[in-house]
Amino acid sequence: MTVTIKTADEQDKMRAAGRLAADVLDMIGDYVKSGITTGELDRICHEYITEVQGAVPAPLNYRGFPKSICTSVNHVVCHGIPGDRKLKTGDSVNIDITVIKDDFHGDTSRMFFVGKPGIQARRLAEVAFESMWLGIEELAPGKHLGDVGAAIQHHVEKNRFSVVREYCGHGIGRAFHEDPQVLHYGSPATGMELRAGMTLTVEPMVNAGKAAVKLLPDGWTVVTKDHSLSAQWEHTVLITETGYEVLTLGADAR
Ligand code: MF3
Ligand code: CO
Ligand code: CO
Repeated sequence: MTVTIKTADEQDKMRAAGRLAADVLDMIGDYVKSGITTGELDRICHEYITEVQGAVPAPLNYRGFPKSICTSVNHVVCHGIPGDRKLKTGDSVNIDITVIKDDFHGDTSRMFFVGKPGIQARRLAEVAFESMWLGIEELAPGKHLGDVGAAIQHHVEKNRFSVVREYCGHGIGRAFHEDPQVLHYGSPATGMELRAGMTLTVEPMVNAGKAAVKLLPDGWTVVTKDHSLSAQWEHTVLITETGYEVLTLGADAR
């Protein structure tokens, strides 16, 4: 697949899809409470996306994924399948929302805490969040994908956490996952050069322990091999003539 450059009209559609995905996260935050199941969070998001937004939850039936959102709790790195698991105080959960509106995708995720998080869980989520933004701030025409990866990796490792290697950000548009791959590690001034009109996700997965992950037998759930905590944040971003525009900002503008 080749990298797509979005026209002005396509950029508007990406803005609309991005806004809807962010709105779902703004909506679901209040429901993340002790006792709720991840399956209930999925049902609430599914109904909101389909009935309120008139949009399509992209994960549902994507390559056989069975639910409308991903819920990744504690040592789950990504692609957690919503189910009967009840959230309890001290849990941290990444909720990853992707919607399709007018044929275009918006993809974003955030960390949520159930009650008061432990010191390590809070610090891990904070460093993952900062690293996502440091990566985003590298985005501009003429910059390289390696600049993004290097900024993320530097910040994570400086804080003695580790970057997951097996999963990465991606181009996004009419397709959920387009070229290029956006690695969350690398060297400055290497890799593909960025151009205005590209739309990409930046979505670093950061582990408290070692970087190694394993896939559970359900074929989707990715966990840390050492069972250490993992955190992730994701934005969809447009490369503009002068830099970048984040398409999935929440109500709190972050
Ligand atoms: N939203 C994820 C991403 O950021 C992809 C989830 S694929 C699914 O790329 F099938 F698990 F939903
Ligand atoms: Co993504
Ligand atoms: Co996502």
